[in-house]
Amino acid sequence: MTARLLEGIPTLGDLEVDGRRVFLRADLNVPLSGDRVLDDLRIASSLPTLRELLGRGASVVMASHLGRPSGSGDPSTSMAPVAQRLRELLGHDVVLATDVAGPDAIARAAALGAGQVLLLENLRWEPGETKGDVGFAKRLAALADRYVDDAFGAAHRAHASISGVPALIPGAAGLLLARELDVLGRLRDDPARPYVAVLGGAKVSDKLIVLERLLERVDVLAVGGAMASTFLLAEGISVGTSRVEADQAGEVGRLVAAARARGVEVILPEDVVVAPEFSRDAPALTVDVRDFPADQMSLDIGPRTTARIAAAVAGAGAVFWNGPMGVSEWPSFAAGTRGVAQALSTSPGFTVVGGGDSAAAVRAFGFAELIDHVSTGGGASLELLEGRALPGVEALRTTPRTAPDAPLRSS
Ligand code: 3PG
Repeated sequence: MTARLLEGIPTLGDLEVDGRRVFLRADLNVPLSGDRVLDDLRIASSLPTLRELLGRGASVVMASHLGRPSGSGDPSTSMAPVAQRLRELLGHDVVLATDVAGPDAIARAAALGAGQVLLLENLRWEPGETKGDVGFAKRLAALADRYVDDAFGAAHRAHASISGVPALIPGAAGLLLARELDVLGRLRDDPARPYVAVLGGAKVSDKLIVLERLLERVDVLAVGGAMASTFLLAEGISVGTSRVEADQAGEVGRLVAAARARGVEVILPEDVVVAPEFSRDAPALTVDVRDFPADQMSLDIGPRTTARIAAAVAGAGAVFWNGPMGVSEWPSFAAGTRGVAQALSTSPGFTVVGGGDSAAAVRAFGFAELIDHVSTGGGASLELLEGRALPGVEALRTTPRTAPDAPLRSS
């Protein structure tokens, strides 16, 4: 079953790269504080493909987006901090171009020798990137002879560097993209049982489709985070001043009732940690959800709920977790997320954390090494599990298989 996602897609071994200039699309969109990289998972995860390309005698033109810049050349979204972290992790020089596909990138790409790495500036400094503009894709493709997509985190975006470039030069899936598709494809199509999904995060409206798909597949669904308040509301439980999406409660209630009728166990918070305001230092109080104070809001799941989720995870054949259980950056409201992360780390089942904040949390709490797969894709992993086709994957199915056997271009 799982071969389906990768079927028909050239992988790194299929691509002749020796003596070639390879455009490597990575997802190096990492959280920053000023010029400090807060979590380098995506940079570290791009290294195996980069090292393989260099080891096979390629020169590499690497590119990524960073954040959602509104205009060209905004220094707060420069790739400079990423280039620095990449140099440190790779232990090898990485030259940063001053533009994306402009005169500096063109000249530097032309001068690249085998084993050298050029990083382009933020792809989203060019408006053609997010528009999927063919003219911009041509400018990117002209920088290289081959294309490798390792940007799983951005595979759900039909952007020029993702869908456009592999239509123009022969491409392949990098090692990270192939592993993500393999692991998440197996979870989507053929999970070991019992299959437990743990969903958290802020908004249920963002996750309604994946929720529906997961409820068709899982044996147990546990819900935490701010979105759990909407689930509680749907059960007729008052949730004080917690943020709720009241307009979603009806649909959520229908999905949960239908899943329960099919025998799916749905775990909702029995107890929560509440506070009078959304503030790091607000006084925290653990309450049973049936005694929810009218003037307080939920900022974490409580210990009984955490223990119940942990027990389900301990007996699971496979676990998928996306979204924190509370405000995990604030110590008073981090216990639920930490407890779920710890439960995954000791589960005998196959454990997968789906990107974004939950991936950052398992790394911050030190459990990442004990989890089978920490995905680099937040939105991408959810869209894959929803069963949607990912533009980044589809583009590789039709990429040209051979190119004129020309030497490296000189301009
Ligand atoms: C992500 O962080 O999920 C990816 O890098 C995609 O970023 P985007 O949501 O800004 O397209």
